[in-house]
Amino acid sequence: MIILIGGEKGGTGKTTLATNLAAMRAQMDRDVLLVDTDPQGSANYWVQSRDEEKIKPRVACIQKFGQGLSTEVKDLASRYQDIIIDAGGRDSIELRSALVATEKVYIPIQPSQFDIWTLDQMDELVAAAKAFNPELKAKVVISRSSTNPSVQESNETQKLLEDFINLDLANSIIRDRIAYRKAAKDGLAVIETKPKDQKATKEMEMFFQEVFNHE
Ligand SMILES: Nc1ncnc2c1ncn2[C@@H]1O[C@H](COP(=O)(O)OP(=O)(O)OP(=O)(O)O)[C@@H](O)[C@H]1O
Ligand SMILES: [Mg+2]
Repeated sequence: MIILIGGEKGGTGKTTLATNLAAMRAQMDRDVLLVDTDPQGSANYWVQSRDEEKIKPRVACIQKFGQGLSTEVKDLASRYQDIIIDAGGRDSIELRSALVATEKVYIPIQPSQFDIWTLDQMDELVAAAKAFNPELKAKVVISRSSTNPSVQESNETQKLLEDFINLDLANSIIRDRIAYRKAAKDGLAVIETKPKDQKATKEMEMFFQEVFNHE
């Protein structure tokens, strides 16, 4: 499956979600490729830390920039069972290109930064990509939200999304937890840390299920 974690807003947790999904998929003995399209190279850096610490399973990663991304990804899809793309940046060529190649895009947003403009742009980018990729599904996932659970948060987001015909709300919510930052630093997925953060593990497993087992 080809999955894109994307969005125009910075720091929403795109790389965190992409790297966690990649490691979890690799744990299932799948041939996974993580594609890092960000010049900052955070996903690639995470893989390097993972390799330096000799953490198994290995996660393969390539960095890919520019317009050729969608062709490259479609080509790689015959060699890997799963491709997870980390694409960000304001209206980047990579984000547009990845939207054409992917089956599903998950767009993390932080509740504190609800930004209609960002969603508006994403809705338009998804609409444009659908001309070439009619089956594309786009979901907004609440990310880095406060650990004080609030039903209000999802209701508000749901309401906000009613205005965007191409965007739906994911069922999972990822909360702001230190465990994610610690894991990222060591090249780990949150479910691999010892001791395990039970809550982070549970919510990331739910998100994983939603991404790979839904629909
Ligand atoms: N759920 C979370 N809980 C706590 N910290 C998080 C969470 N998600 C991400 N972070 C931290 O927030 C920072 C930004 O996250 P991340 O790099 O995943 O976002 P991004 O959307 O990829 O950012 P960019 O737009 O710069 O690529 C990192 O320090 C990361 O460890
Ligand atoms: Mg990133």
